[in-house]
Amino acid sequence: MKAIEIKPGIYWVGVIDWAVRDFHGYVTPNGTTYNNYLIMDDEITLVDAVKYDFAEIGIANIRSLVDFSRIKNLVINHIENDHMGALGIYMELMPQATIYTTARGKQGMERFFDISRWNIKTVKTGDELKIGKYTLQFIETPMLHWPDSMMTYIKEAKLLISQDAFGQHLASTARFDDEFIECASHAELEDAVVDYYANILMPFGRLIKSKIKQIQDLGIEIDMIAPDHGVIWRREPERVMQMYLQMAEGSTNLRVAIVYDTMWHSTEIMTQPIMQGIKDEGVDCKVIKLRATPMSVAIKEFWKSRGLLVGSPTLNNEVFPSVAEYITQD
Ligand code: FEO
Repeated sequence: MKAIEIKPGIYWVGVIDWAVRDFHGYVTPNGTTYNNYLIMDDEITLVDAVKYDFAEIGIANIRSLVDFSRIKNLVINHIENDHMGALGIYMELMPQATIYTTARGKQGMERFFDISRWNIKTVKTGDELKIGKYTLQFIETPMLHWPDSMMTYIKEAKLLISQDAFGQHLASTARFDDEFIECASHAELEDAVVDYYANILMPFGRLIKSKIKQIQDLGIEIDMIAPDHGVIWRREPERVMQMYLQMAEGSTNLRVAIVYDTMWHSTEIMTQPIMQGIKDEGVDCKVIKLRATPMSVAIKEFWKSRGLLVGSPTLNNEVFPSVAEYITQD
């Protein structure tokens, strides 16, 4: 898909992965995107790279706007392979570029690449880079969801490039939230946010609350959030932040999930009167058999439900293996 201008002089130059169905063990039935952004300012600046397999498409997108030899800066917000896999190829085309990343980001790069010829500057929260009419401000977000992670805020555009945070695994030609809602539905988009949060960010709820507070304390105005996966939040960036706060606080709908597995159907039979009793009390209930459900889907149900009941047969005096796996997820 061609480059798209998301703010004056700021372009999405990412790629769409329509086919990925397993994202490090997390099922992604709707594929994903690897977003990155090119800022055409006095100092042309690229923010993030793409997955290695998609380097050729990413390069073509960038070249449709500028030759790599003119790119002055490269911001790397996060060094996981889906964003940085193509970094080595990009740097062969733009050896003149200065890389901006966190100290942990630099350490990570050293493990993957020979960085001896790269000019790398490490940044921390509050550091700024003036590139012309735009000023980039860096915000470290360690453990959201890797130690190296950070976000880049473009002050004059009120644009937060949020890296993995606020993303969704959705392959779509829609690049913005309002476009996706128009061609699919609001419910589908919000479901993708919950799914992503449950499987990528679930262990870091406390950090998320404090980081959103820190962003608010910095006094930055946000009228667009551009994550590195899925659609860009143009219509309702505040809504996705609110969703994150709610999920971090464990605030959910009035609903109960019964998650179980069964050997000879006894546990399964028990789920039915329990489900009926919950329903009779006027509460929605969902019953999930673990071996019939991808683990990442069962985890998402936990985040959508206020109550969780877990059913397991006893096997060799222990909890059933699939149930043990479920209850020990981070
Ligand atoms: Fe999308 Fe942490 O990588």
